[in-house]
Amino acid sequence: MSNKRIVSPSMLSADFGHLERDTKMIDRSRAEWVHIDVIDGVFVPNISFGFPVLKAITSATEKFMDVHLMIVEPEKYVGRFADAGADLVTFHWEATEDVEGCINLIREKGVKVGVSIKPKTPVSVLEDILPKIDLVLIMSVEPGFGGQSFIEGSTEKVAELRAMIERKGLDVMIEIDGGVSRHNARELYEAGCDALVAGSAVFKAADPEAEIVAILEA
Ligand code: DX5
Ligand code: ZN
Repeated sequence: MSNKRIVSPSMLSADFGHLERDTKMIDRSRAEWVHIDVIDGVFVPNISFGFPVLKAITSATEKFMDVHLMIVEPEKYVGRFADAGADLVTFHWEATEDVEGCINLIREKGVKVGVSIKPKTPVSVLEDILPKIDLVLIMSVEPGFGGQSFIEGSTEKVAELRAMIERKGLDVMIEIDGGVSRHNARELYEAGCDALVAGSAVFKAADPEAEIVAILEA
């Protein structure tokens, strides 16, 4: 099965003083998705932004809204994120006692369902839920901050998950997040990723649109 090649620039690395400008850049670019990191200060030691910022971004682009929730008890909020314009709502497997309940709440809203795992969580925890979801987001850094280095071994996790998906004959996408750049993009697509999140690699580049193309064509 051939995987897709999607780049999802992470707005966590955008310039919040020029949110509209940075969102319009993604809108013009060859990135198909926009990655939105919602961080609550409890699940991870940082705080990002919530609904008003998500709405501002959504109103400035037609692109697919890829929302990554790093929050505890995501079941309390997944529905509101779908209502606020998310096309995909991804929550963390480690953040809830009720993974299946969360999946159902997102599904009921008619948007795509993603589940994310932290670097130390093995892909085997996803075995039973894979048939119920659209995407797995593999964290290749500890969640919470942009600009960290890619954790070795994450590529092997992608390959292991891709093999598990194929063994089960499923159609589940794989996305990876953290420390992604043009330098490791090719090995990640080849290992089985469909979507690569890139924050600092895109927004710290002299020419962010060209950087998106470089990641896509790596
Ligand atoms: C980190 C976030 C990432 C972050 C990635 O917890 O989930 O999406 O923005 O940033 P880079 O690409 O700089 O590692
Ligand atoms: Zn993210």
